[in-house]
Amino acid sequence: MSDIMIHPTAFIHYKALVTESRVGAGTKIWQFASVIRGATIGARCNIASGACIDGSDIGDDCVIAHNLAMGPGFKIGNGVFIGPNVTFCNDAWPRAGKDGFDADAYIGSPAVIVEDGASIGANAVILPGVRIGSGAMIAAGAVVRADVRAGELYMGRGEVRKISDETGRIRIRRARADESEARAFAEDHGIE
Ligand SMILES: CC(C)(COP(=O)(O)OP(=O)(O)OC[C@H]1O[C@@H](n2cnc3c(N)ncnc32)[C@H](O)[C@@H]1OP(=O)(O)O)[C@@H](O)C(=O)NCCC(=O)NCCS
Repeated sequence: MSDIMIHPTAFIHYKALVTESRVGAGTKIWQFASVIRGATIGARCNIASGACIDGSDIGDDCVIAHNLAMGPGFKIGNGVFIGPNVTFCNDAWPRAGKDGFDADAYIGSPAVIVEDGASIGANAVILPGVRIGSGAMIAAGAVVRADVRAGELYMGRGEVRKISDETGRIRIRRARADESEARAFAEDHGIE
């Protein structure tokens, strides 16, 4: 565990760290993140500030951005990116009362499975009962309520596209420097 970095303000359920939870070598857990109730985190992950991982399993080499909300019942593969403010839901009909809901039902049979190499954009909401396939991409702000197959781009509202080739994908997009440039862009793209 020598190269694990846990920020002093992060809350790791230490009893659980020894007895139930595990954090893999090379993983970094930043400010005010919580890893609780038997959650496991693989090796070389980065868990950003404010993320809460409660009773779920994260694989190796994952990047978890700020403020992830993840209760019990989720299984995340290796090399998965989860953007800021993503919410995983495990109760399809939530009520304050516990009648009809038992998080233990998800032990060995998760509410949601995210396969290796998938990415989930900022603010996405993942509803219970879905599988997100390997290498899939979930758009920022999408609500995922059905399976997304391997290699698919899920845009939200049920629209799915194929990720045919990622080579040459433009990841950096800068704001336009001045108004005339912005106007020209809007005209080119039919934006009023
Ligand atoms: C969905 C996404 C992957 C699409 O990437 P892309 O294919 O390169 O996007 P483009 O800008 O070429 O847009 C393609 C189409 O998707 C639409 N679109 C883009 N982002 C969208 C989103 N988040 N939700 C719904 N539709 C979106 C565009 O309007 C466009 O629609 P059109 O084909 O009908 O004109 C990207 O916009 C996105 O949401 N990335 C996640 C960003 C993020 O959360 N990063 C993590 C934090 S840094």
